[in-house]
Formats: sequence, structure tokens, C-alpha cells
Amino acid sequence: MLYQIVSGGICLRSSAPSCNSNGAIATPTTAKLGTTGMVVSEQHEATQAGIAILNQGGNAIDAAVGVGYALAVTYPCCGNLGGGGFMLIRFADGRSRFLDFREMAPGAATPNMYLDAKGQVIRNLSTKGYLAVGVPGTVKGLDYALTTYGTRNRQQVMASAIALAERGFILQAADAALLQGFTKTFKTQPNVASIFLKNGKPYQSGDRLVQSHLARSLRSIADRGSDAFYQGAIADELVTASQQGRGILTKTDLAKYRVRDTVPLQCQYRNYQILTAPPPGGGATLCQMLNILEGYPQSDRLSQTLHRRFSAMLFAYADRNAMLGDPAFVRNPLDRLLSKSYAATIRQKIKSDRAIDPNRVYRTNPAVEGNHTTHYTIADRQGNIVSVTYTINGLFGAGVIAGQTGFFLNNEMDDFTAKPAVPNTYGLVQGSANAIAPLKRPLSSMTPTIVLLNNQPVLATGSRGGSTIPTTVLQVILNREANLTHQQWVDAPRIHYQGLPNVVIAEPYALANPVFQELWRMGYRVIPFPNWGAAESIAIDPSAKTIYGLHDSRERTGSALAQ
Ligand code: DON
Repeated sequence: MLYQIVSGGICLRSSAPSCNSNGAIATPTTAKLGTTGMVVSEQHEATQAGIAILNQGGNAIDAAVGVGYALAVTYPCCGNLGGGGFMLIRFADGRSRFLDFREMAPGAATPNMYLDAKGQVIRNLSTKGYLAVGVPGTVKGLDYALTTYGTRNRQQVMASAIALAERGFILQAADAALLQGFTKTFKTQPNVASIFLKNGKPYQSGDRLVQSHLARSLRSIADRGSDAFYQGAIADELVTASQQGRGILTKTDLAKYRVRDTVPLQCQYRNYQILTAPPPGGGATLCQMLNILEGYPQSDRLSQTLHRRFSAMLFAYADRNAMLGDPAFVRNPLDRLLSKSYAATIRQKIKSDRAIDPNRVYRTNPAVEGNHTTHYTIADRQGNIVSVTYTINGLFGAGVIAGQTGFFLNNEMDDFTAKPAVPNTYGLVQGSANAIAPLKRPLSSMTPTIVLLNNQPVLATGSRGGSTIPTTVLQVILNREANLTHQQWVDAPRIHYQGLPNVVIAEPYALANPVFQELWRMGYRVIPFPNWGAAESIAIDPSAKTIYGLHDSRERTGSALAQ
């Protein structure tokens, strides 16, 4: 693989993967295993908030909860109170749990709620404004994690988030840039403009962002727990704003929200045991791709290796989009999809010399899937590891803040099938298993994952990036096997294919020209794509007794810190 992006130790372009924001080659943060914890997140202040909790004796779950709240303050595009997500925990004693705090459809949601009288999808209805909002799960998820598996109290883990909101924090260039791109959206609502614009103008690097409304919401959660959000004054403001904004959220919906605490999905890839997200998360797609790929020997030809990867991606996404949905509503045929024999039958369909026509693989009439999110990973010195991906879907979610609550609400309803065969924001064409139903959770691509070797964790990873998340996690795992540095496991340029749309997207520097040309001859249409998720990861080398914080160089606001 072409990975020649540095020259003489100086990055040619500071935006190229493996170059940090100073234009230098990125390196992992390393620490001694067993004596030091590690936090890796997409926002530097939030990373520090996690370290502060570890330093006070909190465990990785305490720190994960604190980072979740801190990101809601310092990374408002994506970190959230108004969204949902998944937390994967692997405890030092070998147990593991998967917490699903994904949003759910409001009780009044219907399968056709985004269609007009002619059955056509109404533009923007599932992505903008209150009708796009699913019942948020984040606050219940974080509070459940803390009270069930944490060791500190709410005040302790939320102290940094509250201080960051109340006193504000200084925006670095990358923090300000995230906000600047959304000036137009912020201007449309006075309550949003009053927080995220400075006298009507975009915030600049060096400015202090104070969020007093959000601080008040956080304080009431710290005092009263999740009831403050799901039953108290915050619930009232959410429902009132929803009603005024032609949404359908009710207090009953909020009161009914429950966290699911379950076992992770497990699969075996070569010698590795993979712990990942069961449906509605993206782990089944990850495992299916790994199953297909493990049956192939190494190939010297990169185009051949990539053709196999693209084919594995195609089959796994076609199955996902046709068959998977919220397990409380549909039966997910995981026994079959994840069996090694099914992977073998798929391999037989993959010819060595040409791309497969996706229309022969997709069995549903394709429908489309909807895309901001953030992933972070934490390890404590005791050996607990936590991998969290949570989201409000699009950048700044549905673009609305209810009254004086101070936080953006999700547009996760777009992850459902608005109409079979019509792609969502992420180009996903999904089927009826992911149809909208009251209190159902939309299918997700989020794939927080922990990889074990000989029963020891060696990698904890995950990413944002909508439909590219499972293939991103796949590539981080496969990179571990390639001749790459730890940092390159997350930074190496990526590719993604999901069949529909029928294009391979490739990150700049991912493919050398001859490989690109050979893929084209095989029938792949490869186009450049610049926006890839940050796979904020932790790697562990038990034999070297070293833990590596792998902050993804793509996201300039983030950091990896050892305790
Ligand atoms: O759950 C999902 O699959 C999407 N809502 C995730 C969105 C996402 O990753 C956006 N980030 N770039």
C-alpha cells in the first residue's frame, strides 16, 4: 500500500494522515501498562477531563462518563446530551458488557412519517428540525453506566464538564473552525445564535466559549440524575419546543426510555477474539467482513487484496441493509450471517478478476440510510477498557436546541428506512427490518470494538463516519496485521465500499496509480473522498508492557493522554 506521505521527517501536507497539527509526524502516546491509564478522544479538553477522573482514583467507566459529558460541552457538533450511543466495557476480570443507549422513535412515529401524499420522501424532514429527533438516550446511558459500573458520584465525574460550560474554555483554531462552518444554521434561531455566535459573528481561535444554559442543564443532572432530563424541567422544555416545532416528542416517550445492558457480540478472526456492537450496532457487519476475509491467504497483489475487501464489504452491507434492525422488533439472523460456512459460500461467489455487480447481491429494493458522531477510548491502570461511540447523527444533529436547555438534539430518525430503496444521508439503502415503528431504535453503523489475543485486550477502537464506521474499524484491525506502525493503524489512508452507491471511496494517498488503474479495469469506480472518521483508539502490547494512545491525526481537536 502506498503510504509514502512523509519526507525527511517533515509532513508534506499537515492535513495528510499521520501528520499532526504542527505538520510533524504523529506518534502515539505511550505509557507503562498496569501503572497508567490512557484517554483518547476527539477533543483535548475532554481528554483532560477523563485524565482528571482517573487521577482522582476513578475507573475507566467513571472516566468514560466524565468524557461523555465533557464532549457534550467542548465538542458540540457531536458530543451530546441530546443523542444516543453505545458503550462497550471489558472489565479487568474478563467480563464484558455492552450498553445500548441508542435513541428510539417517539411513540407517535409511523413508517410513512417522512413521505408525502404521493409516497415520496420529503426532503430534510428526517434530518432537520423536531420531526427528525429521536428520544435521546445519552443521559440515561451515561447515568446507568456510572451507577452500575462506576465508582465515583455524579458530582465528581461531571465537575469538569460543568466547569467547562460555566467558566468556558478557550477555543483553539480547530475548535473554532468546527463552529465557523455552521454560522448560517446558528443564525436561524436566536437561542442557538446567543450561544454559538459572538454578537452574531463566528467565534475565533482564542475566544472563550461560555455555555451557561448547558451548565444549568448539567448541574441539574448532577444533582438529580437522569430524572432531571427525562421527567423534570428539561423534559418539559424538550416537549414544549418539540410541539412548537411540529415534532411528536412526548413526556411519556421520555419517561419510557430504557438503557439496554447486554452482552457484546463476539466473533473470532484468526487468533483474535472480537468484542463488538450487536444490533442495532454495526458489529455484525464487521464480523461478517472478517469472516469472509480470514479464509483468504495473503496476496502479493494489492489490487487482489482490495478486491477481496471490497467484495466482503459488498456482501456484508447488502445483508445488513436487507436483514438487520432493532432486535426488540425484528429477528436478526446472526447465527447464519456470522457462521463460517456462510462466509465460505460468499467466498465462492467472489471471482478473482472482476468486481461483482451490486444489484445481484442486494436482495431488497434498496432504500437509503442517513450521518455526527464521536468515538473515544479509555483504559485504566486496573485493566478495565471502555470504548464509546455516541452521536447526534449529523453535525449539530437536527440543528435545534430546545428553549434554554443549551444542547443540540439529534436527527437520528434519518437512520431508519424512510422508504425502502431510497438512500439516507449515508447513502444506505435499507429495507423493512429497519422500518420506523414507535419506540424502535434505528439501525446504526456505530461499532465500538475491543480485540483480544489470548484473552488479553490488545486493541480498543471505533470511529465516527456514518456508514464508513464498520469498514474503518475493519481497516484498523487489519492494519494491526500489516507492516505498519501503531500510529498508522489509525492514520493509514482508508477505502470504503458498500455496493450502493456503486463507487469505491478512497482517501487521498490510499492508492498508488497502478493499483487504481487495475481496480478500474476490474470494474471498480474509485473516487476520492476527504472526510473520514477519527478512530480514537488504544493499543496494548502485553509482552512489552506498553499501552499506546492512538489519537487519529485526522481530527485536530483531539488528543491522547496518559495519566
Ligand atoms: O448511528 C449511525 O450509524 C449514524 N447516526 C452515525 C453518524 C456518524 O457517524 C456521523 N459522523 N460522522
